[in-house]
Amino acid sequence: MAHTLSFLAFTLFSILFASSPPAIAEPAQYSVQSYGAKPDGTTDSTKAFLSAWDQVCGSTAPASLYVPSGKFSLGKATFQGPCKNSAIVVTIDGTLVAPSDYSSIGDENNWIIFKDVDGVTVSGGILDGQGTGLWSCKASGKSCPEGVTSLEFSNSNNIEINGLASQDSQKFHIVINSCQNVIVQNVKVSAASNSPNTDGIHVESSTGVTILNSKIGTGDDCVSVGPGTANLWVENVACGPGHGISLGKKLEEERVQNVTVKTTTFTGTENGVRIKTWARPSNGFARNILFQHAVMINAKNPIVIDQNYCPDDKNCPNQESGVKISDVTYQDIHGSSATEVGVKLDCSTKYPCTGIELEDVKLTYNNQPAEASCINAAGTVSGFVQPSSCL
Ligand SMILES: *[C@@H]1O[C@H](CO)[C@@H](O)[C@H](O)[C@H]1NC(C)=O
Repeated sequence: MAHTLSFLAFTLFSILFASSPPAIAEPAQYSVQSYGAKPDGTTDSTKAFLSAWDQVCGSTAPASLYVPSGKFSLGKATFQGPCKNSAIVVTIDGTLVAPSDYSSIGDENNWIIFKDVDGVTVSGGILDGQGTGLWSCKASGKSCPEGVTSLEFSNSNNIEINGLASQDSQKFHIVINSCQNVIVQNVKVSAASNSPNTDGIHVESSTGVTILNSKIGTGDDCVSVGPGTANLWVENVACGPGHGISLGKKLEEERVQNVTVKTTTFTGTENGVRIKTWARPSNGFARNILFQHAVMINAKNPIVIDQNYCPDDKNCPNQESGVKISDVTYQDIHGSSATEVGVKLDCSTKYPCTGIELEDVKLTYNNQPAEASCINAAGTVSGFVQPSSCL
């Protein structure tokens, strides 16, 4: 009986398999090479990329833009939507190289940007922002262009970035701005530890962004979170070198809520998990934030809230942050701090932090318990917490 059954099942399966053609046709593929792109590292292939994009974006059926292996030199490229289909895959086997003369795009804000698109996946590829020249210009104190973000998605929904490597961006590597439902995974970001403003992944004005399984080493924040961010999930990210994972990048009008940062490691970073707000008036808030399962390996400030952020003491008239921080949980955070103070909660006098929870925290400095410092911070402690809490 058992034999008969499995024989039948097998027959049925093989008949089905043999007789049915693939149910879904492969999406039409447009290779940038058919539009004149050259994998020689020098020929400017911008026009070819944009022509291929026009076909992909104008297709009413699912379509894919294909970049073969080799090095493609690309100037500023805006992949503009809306498109006629919402199943676009950009498959990159090769490397996209920004112009070596940084001044040619340095004032453009963006190198590669997707705007107003829905349902776009970028898969694989290496982006080489060739930022080193601009970094040295900035370090020399000369007047230099601001620099460009290597890859941005703006005003877009249902986006996936998978398996991309980004190196040596002029400014930020990857920016998600005004988007909904985005997943960034298996990404590798690298830039020198002294490269200025080379944030790994910056999220702003976006809802439902997930960042998974990625490795980020830069000269600035590994992940930075700007105003208008809600429902952000960050999991399994290795950060270092870099400034850590920061909520509160550069702006005073902070509104950030429901952020989970889970299973992260920080190696030799300036900070671990940081929330910072400008010491300026604001009606912003940051709430419902969970930092869970973090390992610190010689991070300078493993746990930090800094509401007195005022670089160069400029433009902070009352030296008082109006951003309300509440319901921030630190759970299972352990490892070593590179400075004595492992936990620093420095909140606003006007709006003290509330609902701070420390649970199972163990941070050492030179193999001794680290120290904690709290100003205007209230909350609760549970489990083993070292340094002993100052809440
Ligand atoms: C918080 O964000 C997560 C995704 O990061 C989402 O699944 C969850 O529904 C959000 N919670 C609320 C209350 O919006």
